[in-house]
Amino acid sequence: MRATITAVAGYLPDDVLSNADLEKMVDTNDEWIRTRTGIEERRILKDPTKATSDMGAEAVKTLCEKRGMDAAEIDLIIVATVTADMHFPSTANLIAHKVGAVNSWGYDLSAACSGFIFALTTGAKFVESGQYKKVVIVGADKMSSIIDYTDRTTCILFGDAAAAVLLEPSEEHGIIDHKLHVDGNGANFLRQKAGGSLFPPTHETVENKEHVIWQDGKPVFKAAVKGMADVSYDIMQKNNLKPDDVAWLVPHQANLRIIDATQRRMGLPKEKVMINIQKYGNTTAATIPLCLMDWETKLKKGDNIILAAFGGGFTWGAVYLQWAYDTH
Ligand code: COA
Repeated sequence: MRATITAVAGYLPDDVLSNADLEKMVDTNDEWIRTRTGIEERRILKDPTKATSDMGAEAVKTLCEKRGMDAAEIDLIIVATVTADMHFPSTANLIAHKVGAVNSWGYDLSAACSGFIFALTTGAKFVESGQYKKVVIVGADKMSSIIDYTDRTTCILFGDAAAAVLLEPSEEHGIIDHKLHVDGNGANFLRQKAGGSLFPPTHETVENKEHVIWQDGKPVFKAAVKGMADVSYDIMQKNNLKPDDVAWLVPHQANLRIIDATQRRMGLPKEKVMINIQKYGNTTAATIPLCLMDWETKLKKGDNIILAAFGGGFTWGAVYLQWAYDTH
């Protein structure tokens, strides 16, 4: 028994933050951002009364509509996020309530930009065991809630979004293999310093802007290029996949140069790589399902697909799956 993706849906806030907008906020320019990252604009959830669970709930509602199912049929919701609405209850709890998933349980999973593939791998096990028939995996992040919009080194990179997939049992297609890694030394280069149990919020932590993303970009970039390229190559080797066998690479969208390095290492032509970073920036846990959403109509039953990610923690990995349906 395999777990296979049978539907995909996403939610993008309406407000656009373009490179031109950022030029008015910090000392940067469109050319620098485009050549260093590939990003042209991102979406921002401006409504102060809305949070990650609201975007996630919209994605799950659309997912249910697309699959023609009632939310009460969902067995389990796993939400990959680093921007939970609050420390507790979990975002999964809030989403289940908002969509009417009254028979579901759920939990949040924290693996930053690799969150979606970690959650997908975890959720697949509940389906493969035969225990559950409908597991929803959500990748959702309101990154604007943890960004300092006076820090030009981070504020240009991130956007807000949510996207979700439905996992169901299949004897034919589905998730075949995964290779996932963590390295806690990564905390030295990319983290949110305060707000957790190590440094609970104080006047001082707020004044020092320690509740936002802090990043030492260069070492993160180097680790990401190596981590994402190596693991994508490794999963091909492990499954005897040649470049011709792979229909699509679905890379986490953090930086176009990291994606290019991964594509080259895998020996794939550019046309096989899903890239939408120019439109949305880095939406952390949402990037990979957003790509699946944007490319859904091009995917064919039986396509060999590699999902690959690298993120804070450090966390990184790849998933090999076979696509289950044609969209007409
Ligand atoms: N606009 C203009 N100039 C900027 C800038 C901006 N937004 N941000 C930084 N700079 C400047 C720097 O101050 C530096 O100036 P200096 O040479 O005078 O010191 C110069 O540009 C080069 O900065 P550097 O940090 O070396 O650039 P880079 O090529 O490493 O690109 C990142 C910066 C952040 C785009 C890149 O390091 C990166 O993508 N890192 C990984 C990020 C990531 O993926 N994080 C999430 C985990 S998945």
